[in-house]
Order: sequence, then structure tokens, then C-alpha cells
Amino acid sequence: METVEFYNGNKMPVVGLGTFRVENNDDCKEAVKHAIINGYRSIDTAMIYDNESKVGEGIAEGLAEAGIARNELFITSKLWLADYGRENVQAAYETSLKKLGLDYLDLYLMHWPGLDEAVMIDTWQGMEDLYKDDKVKNIGVSNFTVSHLEALLAQVSIKPVINQVEFHPYLVQDELRRYLEVQNIVAESWSPLMNAQILDDEVVKAVAEEVGKTPAQVIIRWNIENNVVVIPKSITPSRIDENLDVFNFSLTTAQIEKLNALNEDKRIGPNPDEFSGQ
Ligand SMILES: NC(=O)c1ccc[n+]([C@@H]2O[C@H](COP(=O)([O-])OP(=O)(O)OC[C@H]3O[C@@H](n4cnc5c(N)ncnc54)[C@H](OP(=O)(O)O)[C@@H]3O)[C@@H](O)[C@H]2O)c1
Repeated sequence: METVEFYNGNKMPVVGLGTFRVENNDDCKEAVKHAIINGYRSIDTAMIYDNESKVGEGIAEGLAEAGIARNELFITSKLWLADYGRENVQAAYETSLKKLGLDYLDLYLMHWPGLDEAVMIDTWQGMEDLYKDDKVKNIGVSNFTVSHLEALLAQVSIKPVINQVEFHPYLVQDELRRYLEVQNIVAESWSPLMNAQILDDEVVKAVAEEVGKTPAQVIIRWNIENNVVVIPKSITPSRIDENLDVFNFSLTTAQIEKLNALNEDKRIGPNPDEFSGQ
């Protein structure tokens, strides 16, 4: 599996499995297990998805069936806003670990910046505590804008390794991605398929025809070519397989530019400057 390297030398697979809106039932377990058996090495969940226990079961069964060790997987979860505040971070982290049945995470993210800068900074210090105590392999953020990152980097000692944000051809986040590149922070996309809406776009379909791949594969490849880690979600075994089958073709510069040009600065999720988690 291709990986990206963080500034701290640790690596993360460029494609992983998303699990948002996957209920905490056996479909969740089976999707995660199927993914691992069929080559996925990265799984993304969050406390607020309320599915960490079934994701954890899928991880355990997937590891056993694939015959691989825990350290060959890269597991991400996220700290929810209700648990913000330096003193709350460790307990929230341990609750996630317990539900997942794991003794460490590869990546723990602050899920949103929130609306209070002082709380954001204080919470990040709790994330730093986990990292300094070797409880977690990497710490990062999600849904941070350039202003959130500027405020954070000015006041803390450990930089996030990654920023997971909404990213697809209708929201290409040029300014943010340039900033992340300069800071050597990896970009990661959520809702890369725009929750399947982007798959009906005519330009995406035309590029898919040109390269003989599906629209989803084109979008996932476009993320990789843009140096963006990508975590498409599916609970459908054939789609889980399809979404990982993206390492045997590439897009031309013209095709990448055609997709970039679809940008409309259009979000399907909340605006991070306005989102309090309520
Ligand atoms: N940090 C954040 O704030 C945040 C926010 C949102 C999401 N995320 C993360 O990002 C992950 C991905 O985002 P997302 O779940 O919102 O949406 P997404 O990955 O853009 O789209 C998922 C949808 O596309 C369908 N799909 C997947 N592969 C397909 C394929 N090959 N062909 C046709 N349809 C396909 C899935 O259907 P089926 O499942 O029915 O196959 C599902 O309905 C999440 O699961 C989560 O882990 C993070």
C-alpha cells in the first residue's frame, strides 16, 4: 500500500476506509473486516459516529483472517467537541480505545476547531500530552481553516501531522492545501465522493470513460495525484474493493486540471467557522 510520510517520519496509507453514517451493527463489522482482508490498511472512525465498538470487532476479525499484525494497520479516531478541554482529552481517548478494543491509535484528531480559540488551544495541549506520553502515534486536526491553523501554530509546540477536511472537485480548497504544503502538514479529504453526488458529474464520467475506470476510482486517484489522503466510505463489498483498485492507472495533467476546474467552493458539510457541534 502506498503511504505518505508525516513530518515526524511516521507513515499513513494514502487510501483508507471511512465509516461515517455506518451504524454500530454487524454490517459495520463486516465492512471493516472485508476491507482489511482485501488489502485496506487504514480505517477512519470517530467517537461521534457511535460505531467504534463494531469497527473494533471488524478490526479484530480482519486482523485474524488476514493474518497480519496490529502494527500493519493505521487506525484513526476523533475527539468530539463535548470532550474539549485539556483535562478531558485523555479520558475521551481511553473511552475510544476501550470501545475499539485497541491499546493505541495511530492517529487521533480534534474533530472540529469549535468556536472558541482558547478552548481549541487548550484542547490541543491535551492532545500534545497524549503524544508526549507515547499513548498515541500521531496527533492531528480536522476541519481547520488557515486561520485556525495560524492561531494554533502560533501558540503550541507540536504541529498537527494532518488536517482532515471536506475535499472533492466542487471544493478544492486551494488556499488551504497550499498552506498545508508550506507547513508540511498532510491534507486528508472527507466526503471525497461528495457522498456519491460527484459520481454523476458529466466531466467526472467523461474522464472515467477515457481511463476505463469508474467515476469513484477517478475521484480517489485524483485525490492521490493531488497528494491528499483519501478515505472513501462504503459498506458494499464490491465498492470497497473498487475503491482500493486505484494503483494501476494515473490521470494526465489535463485530466487533473479538468477536475480541479469543477470547483464551486461548494460544501456539503458544515462551515468550520460556524460549527459548534450542536
Ligand atoms: N472529519 C469530519 O468532519 C468528517 C466528515 C464527514 C466524513 N468524514 C470521514 O470521511 C469518510 C468519507 O466521507 P463520507 O462517508 O461522508 O462520504 P463519501 O465517502 O464521499 O461517500 C460515501 C457514499 O458513496 C457511496 N459509494 C462509495 N463507494 C462507491 C462507489 N465505488 N460507487 C458508487 N457509490 C459509492 C457509499 O455507498 P455504500 O456505503 O452504500 O456503498 C456512500 O453512500 C467518512 O466515512 C468519515 O470516515 C469525516
